[in-house]
Amino acid sequence: MSTILSIRALHKEFLSRGTRVVAVQDLDLDIEEGEFITIVGPSGCGKSTLLNCIIGLVQPTGGTITYHDRQLRGINTEIGYVPQSDYLYPWRTILDNVAFPLEVRGVGKEERHEKAREFIQRVGLAGFENHYPHELSGGMRQRVNIIRTLIYDPELILMDEPFGPLDAQTRIILQDQLLRLWEEARKTVIFITHDLVEAIALADRVVVMTSRPGTIRSVTPIEISRPRDVFRIHSEEAFRTVYDRLWEELREEVQRSEEWLQQAAGA
Ligand SMILES: Nc1ncnc2c1ncn2[C@@H]1O[C@H](COP(=O)(O)OP(=O)(O)O)[C@@H](O)[C@H]1O
Ligand SMILES: [Mg+2]
Repeated sequence: MSTILSIRALHKEFLSRGTRVVAVQDLDLDIEEGEFITIVGPSGCGKSTLLNCIIGLVQPTGGTITYHDRQLRGINTEIGYVPQSDYLYPWRTILDNVAFPLEVRGVGKEERHEKAREFIQRVGLAGFENHYPHELSGGMRQRVNIIRTLIYDPELILMDEPFGPLDAQTRIILQDQLLRLWEEARKTVIFITHDLVEAIALADRVVVMTSRPGTIRSVTPIEISRPRDVFRIHSEEAFRTVYDRLWEELREEVQRSEEWLQQAAGA
């Protein structure tokens, strides 16, 4: 395996209402090609900032991000990004939303529609090709959001709490679909979630971040065999053991984050 992404001493500060906010500090992380990495951490600890630095939407204050031995600067269009809320075009059909990234890459209509149909079918949305986004449920829209990124085959995919707003049952179905799609293509995925069960169920390695300023608290390999059954994984012994340990870590960080907020409110 070779390293696709190498993050060294990443540091990001924002100036917020005249005060310096350190969002990410001293963060080192190496990601191997084909890995599925999940990141958990308290709200506001710098998870989105980390992803935004990788994709180039945010300029780091310090440190380096190396992608295949090249230092990243500016927006990197080779990296796919799935945001938490779907930004589907309301005036385009599902088919044309999914095909859009191919359209901007100059792929002809027939070819891009064929590919889009294939992805739509794989996530169980056959029959909805000519619907518009407002006619779909949140879970259906989020599937479209994901396949719209997978369709142009980026080798690194960043996902920022993509299942965040969905109900528990829909989440599990989408986790299952995402894992199947990932098993076929084995692209590198960095997936942020606030749900520890989800983090463990999906990942090759789970990264726990500290409370802000966010850095790495721990990186844990998940040695549960694949393909995984996300519907049952929580009852496996191997799952429970790692869950209990990571939950303890996460709880400490969330608590620290809360204490800090209380202090800030009282100051
Ligand atoms: N553009 C910005 N300007 C000022 N502060 C920001 C900006 N983006 C993020 N922050 C601050 O940086 C910290 C980390 O934010 P974020 O990365 O969104 O956290 P997370 O995704 O883990 O919830 C927060 O304190 C947030 O308020
Ligand atoms: Mg975030």
